[in-house]
Amino acid sequence: MSKNVGKESEGGITSSYKVDDDVVLKVPYSFFGSIYDEEEEKAVLAAMKQDSLTMGPNVQEFQAKFAEYVGTKYAFAVSNCTTAMHVCSQVIGLRPGDEVIVTPNTFIATSLVILKEGARPVYADIDPRTFNIDPKEIEKKITNRTKAIYVVHYGGQMCDMDPIMEIARKYHLVVLEDCAHAPGAEYKGRKAGSIGDFGCFSFHSLKNMTTLGEGGMITCNNDRYAEGIEKLRCMNLENWKDQTDYWIPSHFDVVDFDGKWGNNYRMNEAQAAVGIAQLKKLDMLNAKRIEFGRYITEGLQGIKGITPVYEDPNCKHVYHLYTICVEEEELGASRDDFLRVLYREEGIQGILHYQPTYHFTGLKRLGYGQNLCPIAEKFFYKRELNTPHHPRLTKDDLDAIIEGVKNAARKVRK
Ligand SMILES: Cc1ncc(COP(=O)(O)O)c(C=O)c1O
Repeated sequence: MSKNVGKESEGGITSSYKVDDDVVLKVPYSFFGSIYDEEEEKAVLAAMKQDSLTMGPNVQEFQAKFAEYVGTKYAFAVSNCTTAMHVCSQVIGLRPGDEVIVTPNTFIATSLVILKEGARPVYADIDPRTFNIDPKEIEKKITNRTKAIYVVHYGGQMCDMDPIMEIARKYHLVVLEDCAHAPGAEYKGRKAGSIGDFGCFSFHSLKNMTTLGEGGMITCNNDRYAEGIEKLRCMNLENWKDQTDYWIPSHFDVVDFDGKWGNNYRMNEAQAAVGIAQLKKLDMLNAKRIEFGRYITEGLQGIKGITPVYEDPNCKHVYHLYTICVEEEELGASRDDFLRVLYREEGIQGILHYQPTYHFTGLKRLGYGQNLCPIAEKFFYKRELNTPHHPRLTKDDLDAIIEGVKNAARKVRK
């Protein structure tokens, strides 16, 4: 039996979930989504001995290998996925008055990077089977202010990209793929991050691969976008036009990029060295997640009121999350009653991902209503929960999850 983890920590929900003192967990919701071995340890030690500790040869190598893996012309390493998406919002020139169509079923970051530029997220409802943004709903939300569509490949399964790209071409919209859950995922044989105008990845501790707990990457094929990303992630520096010596008038000049100011969103050399090692392991790490996900699906067959993960035949699902849905009518109990028993009595720590973004107080203050997307709202958020899922789970852990779900369902059935 695992010891309780997840005491309060500096990062709040970004580094652990609280566990009540009287609960003994069999399978905690781990905040490390990957596997490290000697390769990562050696890579960090070697990076520590370099003269330049940031944006050096490891970053360059990581970017080149990542672009090759995803199948894009460019990849740019950044500090995390939020900053990745923020740079893209700046590069496409988002401004107050612009609208971006976005899924409500995502971490707050996907909307934040629209709000930060003064533009307005417009929420389009989700598909009831994959929980990804529904292309038909996107088209309904287009106005003459719409500038872009930001999609999220929820849980590691890609959105239906063909109709999304068709809509984007028809209305001249930019498509950003939030690939935080989906490194290595595929849609009709094409990798996440290679279909839209931008792919933005997270290497946060929880993700399918990690660069020491934080990190991100932007993929793209467009030369002008690439120039903007490269400049805006690092202060927007340029050489002086009339430089005489390298220190005269100074080492660098600073400009804007189409009216946007630069940032420090850089990745350091130790993170990139770990990223190179993790990228080599990514297919193996995803294979474990897929194997474990399918094992759980098999184990959950026939439990009345419990719906396991749906795999879209067009997709390679990389199981960042394992999302169970609770059918209240069939089970005779709510998702919350079920989750309480699963956690308190069965020791399986389930987590909700996500409540619709427009529920948050900050968005309510901007005037967002509470029932904008009925499927995300009632059909998904009220039914869903995620069981612990990562590549270090043992057969005992997987069996404990299956048994826990079975037992909790039996106990709450009225
Ligand atoms: C769907 C989604 N998008 C974006 C992010 C933000 O990633 P990061 O923590 O690397 O900024 C996350 C992080 O959990 C996420 O789940």
